[in-house]
Amino acid sequence: MPTQPVLTAAPATVTPDTAAPATAASVHSERVLTGDRPTGPLHLGHYFGTLHNRVRLQNQGTDLFLVIPDYQVLTDRDVAEHLVEHVEGLVLDYLGAGVDPARATVFTHSAVPALNQLLLPFLSLVSVAELGRNPTVKDEIAHSRQSAVSGLMYTYPAHQAADILFCKATLVPVGKDQEPHLELTRTIARRFNERYGPVFPEPRTLLSQAPLLLGTDGTKMSKSRANSIALKATSDETARLIRGAKTDQDRRISYDPAARPEVSNLVLLTALCQGRDPHEVAESIGDGGASALKAAATEAVNTHFAPLRARRAQYAQDMDYVRELLRAGNERANEVAEQTLAQVRAAMGMFR
Ligand code: TRP
Repeated sequence: MPTQPVLTAAPATVTPDTAAPATAASVHSERVLTGDRPTGPLHLGHYFGTLHNRVRLQNQGTDLFLVIPDYQVLTDRDVAEHLVEHVEGLVLDYLGAGVDPARATVFTHSAVPALNQLLLPFLSLVSVAELGRNPTVKDEIAHSRQSAVSGLMYTYPAHQAADILFCKATLVPVGKDQEPHLELTRTIARRFNERYGPVFPEPRTLLSQAPLLLGTDGTKMSKSRANSIALKATSDETARLIRGAKTDQDRRISYDPAARPEVSNLVLLTALCQGRDPHEVAESIGDGGASALKAAATEAVNTHFAPLRARRAQYAQDMDYVRELLRAGNERANEVAEQTLAQVRAAMGMFR
């Protein structure tokens, strides 16, 4: 029997303004789940894209789950390297960003057997054609370093549905590239409920309002493209990375992302760090040229992230505590997953 109300899914995608719960009661009824592949340190794009949204929701009193999807690393490579190092690094990035260990549940999905079992019924609810036309999967196949595409590449979005539905999340803060996976998750929830009775809410997507931050080379900021500024970067590293960022010849600084993507990106970065309007930032730099812009951006990043970096460094001094936190998170995730799996098996009429 379902223990939680099954929500309707309108609207399926929300922005922070429309998502802001109106009353304390509604805050507490949201369960937020999101996560990051453990493939490297989180960067400023992650921070402005979703990390700050999560912390904001947590601080409003929602129940926050953060999945570290370690199996998902194997979608586009044969071996997941430095897994423990990346997992522990992610936990530190979360703690630095303001995730509160007393309120949030951080877990690795490989440590939650009942979550993984949900993949079997979920796969029965989607067609091979549906899995094959997922635009994010197609894009990842195009950029994959493997010579053959594995079955996991096509099926991981259904596994991601298990990451989300095992805890009956109602709100998922992610970047736009994750929308196809959220759409699939809602489809799976809806089909399961139609076929077997109401068990799952259909989660809404919470998209960031911040415009996309580019890497220092003017393309998408990405862990794998050596163009990103890590949250944990030192002030000196930050200065060096920004000094090396691509700009253009025009000394007059303006905010015009279509015509001047690289310059506008540094303006945007400065504006996001300072909570200012990018046009106003550009105006204030005027015709100082790229060097003044880079100095402003460096100063803005280092000032804004100093407290976060200090907090991260403090936690890094006590890795036993960090590992303990992850163990406790895995334990809680297992309890929740076992309850949901029991409901699923009962709804499907499995022998118990
Ligand atoms: N697919 C996400 C990414 O590549 C990671 C992820 C796995 C995720 N499971 C999730 C995100 C559940 C949100 C909710 O970044």
